[in-house]
Amino acid sequence: MSKIGLFFGTDTGTTRLLGKKIAKKLGEDLVDKPLNINRASLDDLLSYQVLILGTATYGEGDLPGMENNVKAGSWAEFVPQLEGVDLTGKTIALYGVGNQEKYGTRYVNGMAKLYNIFKDKGANIVGSWSTDGYTFTASEAVIDGKFVGLALDNKSQKLNTDARIDGWVEMVKPELVAAL
Ligand SMILES: Cc1cc2nc3c(=O)[nH]c(=O)nc-3n(C[C@H](O)[C@H](O)[C@H](O)COP(=O)(O)O)c2cc1C
Repeated sequence: MSKIGLFFGTDTGTTRLLGKKIAKKLGEDLVDKPLNINRASLDDLLSYQVLILGTATYGEGDLPGMENNVKAGSWAEFVPQLEGVDLTGKTIALYGVGNQEKYGTRYVNGMAKLYNIFKDKGANIVGSWSTDGYTFTASEAVIDGKFVGLALDNKSQKLNTDARIDGWVEMVKPELVAAL
């Protein structure tokens, strides 16, 4: 059976760590080893029918990349390769990592950037998540009252992380498996 691909964009490693937790919860029979997007080719990503994409938020609510001092590059450098690519038929679940206490007016806006990019290219985005229990004031990643994917905050709500991952994986897993 084909597997789910998990790609993440990070600077200081939190989004990698949480991607690994998500992968572990899904199990290695279902998901391949998480890969930093700065080490992935377009073909790597396109080889999967079902994807989990994760990102931190940097700058003014942006994707991580060299422009906001992520020296090894990240999503910001990868995304231009998607120009003209049709992602119809792909199923994608998103997770975003941010800090709602310090950046509460643009919490996990990077996840909203990924959502817009991949949705515009025809992908089916699954795994929206309730805002209950979060304390931010604004986030572009909230559409119709829900996050467009799993929002995590390992800085100001670290104690909630494991339960959020467990709950989200349980919720989204059947939909991801059905799309494989
Ligand atoms: C300069 C800077 C800007 C940031 N901007 C945001 C932001 O706009 N929204 C947000 O939710 N988090 C923001 N963060 C918080 C990071 O996204 C958060 O610390 C995250 O855990 C980092 O993930 P990483 O370890 O995978 O790089 C910012 C952090 C820094 C240092």
